[in-house]
Formats: sequence, structure tokens, C-alpha cells
Amino acid sequence: MSVKGYILDLDGVICDTAGFHFKAWCRLAQEYGVTLDHQDHENLKGVDRETSLRYILGKADIHPDHSLLQRDMERKNQWYLDMVAGMTPDDLFPGTLQFLNRAKEHNIRIALGSASKNARLVLQKLNIEHLFDAIVDGSIVENGKPHPETFLKAAHLLQLKPEECIVFEDAPSGIRAAIAAGCTVIGIGKPESLKGARVVIPSLASFVPHH
Ligand code: BG6
Ligand code: MG
Repeated sequence: MSVKGYILDLDGVICDTAGFHFKAWCRLAQEYGVTLDHQDHENLKGVDRETSLRYILGKADIHPDHSLLQRDMERKNQWYLDMVAGMTPDDLFPGTLQFLNRAKEHNIRIALGSASKNARLVLQKLNIEHLFDAIVDGSIVENGKPHPETFLKAAHLLQLKPEECIVFEDAPSGIRAAIAAGCTVIGIGKPESLKGARVVIPSLASFVPHH
């Protein structure tokens, strides 16, 4: 089936906000005496805010009630937003604009498929929101990755079948979600962390389309 759409994850694919998320989670984890390592970073990538917090509190053997969850999600988010506040279009990963423009020239429809409730804000900071035909973010998805909902919604909004879409993902949870949705998935990052992807490339800049 020919490729008609690209669905891009945001954090870690378009810009380095995956690093911001991890920094903020590390800060919170430290308060509970927990040090997060590289494997924790991989496990947390692509995972929604509440599930991420539960993962960290689980490591500290804490069984949170509703108010603790709300308080710590808000604190982590504020630290994250403080980092995002300083972002500019210069924070796009190199080659992202060329990738998007080349797709447009070939009439490929483009969607965002992110777990983040801050996704639109980040796209605005990067000045690329207008380049997306559809945006699926954490505010409109009920079941986070690895559930396929994010990518099924994105394909639907693009009026395409999932099989007509390529997903670009840096997260193990996102790779699983894309496969479950029936999309082709290209991993962005290192092959050892992104098993299941059709191919893994270091960044969008190294993607060579077959059209
Ligand atoms: C994903 C990130 O894109 O969004 C995760 O990879 C993050 O690290 C998740 O937890 C939710 O983001 P937010 O901005 O809604 O807390
Ligand atoms: Mg990501």
C-alpha cells in the first residue's frame, strides 16, 4: 500500500523535550530518594503524565492518593514548562523543517501523534504548528501509548487508513502503539532500544523517502 501520511511523535523526534521531561521526573524522583537510570528513561518515554508519576512513586514504594498525584503532576509540569519557556525555532532538531516541507511537496499528509498535553504549546514555540494537517495530543486521547488510540485517531483525522501511514517514534511504548495500530513504524534513535521498528535511523534528517 502506498504511503500517504506521516504521523510524528513530538518529544525526542522533533525536538529534545524528551530530555526536559526526564530532567523534571529525575528532580521529582530525587525527592523520594529514587535515582532514575537510562532504562527508566527508555521506559518513561512516550508514557502519559499520570502513568509516569505512578511508575516513579512505585519505585519509592508509595501508594499515592488522588491529591498526591495531582500535586506532584502539577509540580513536575511546572518544572517542565519552565524549560519549555525558553524554547525557540532554533530548538528544532536539524533537518526537521526540510523533512516537513519535502513531505508537503509530495502531498504527504502530516499529523502529530503525541502523548503530551503540552504538545501544541511546544509546536507554537517551534513555530511549526501550521505545518500539521492534524494534531493528536494528550488532551484528546483516553488510552496512552502503548495503546494504539493516538495513531488510530491521527490516521482517522488525516482521512487515511493506518496502513497508509508511517509513524516516526523515539519511544519503545510508541513503537508498540504504532504497530498495534497497523502503521509502519520508523524508530528515531538507537536500534537496541527500538526493537520492532521497520528500520531505526538517528533522526528525521536521515530519512530517505521512496518517492
Ligand atoms: C510524551 C513524553 O510525549 O508525553 C513523556 O515522551 C511525557 O515523557 C508525556 O510524560 C506526557 O506529557 P505531558 O506534557 O502531558 O506531561
Ligand atoms: Mg517521544
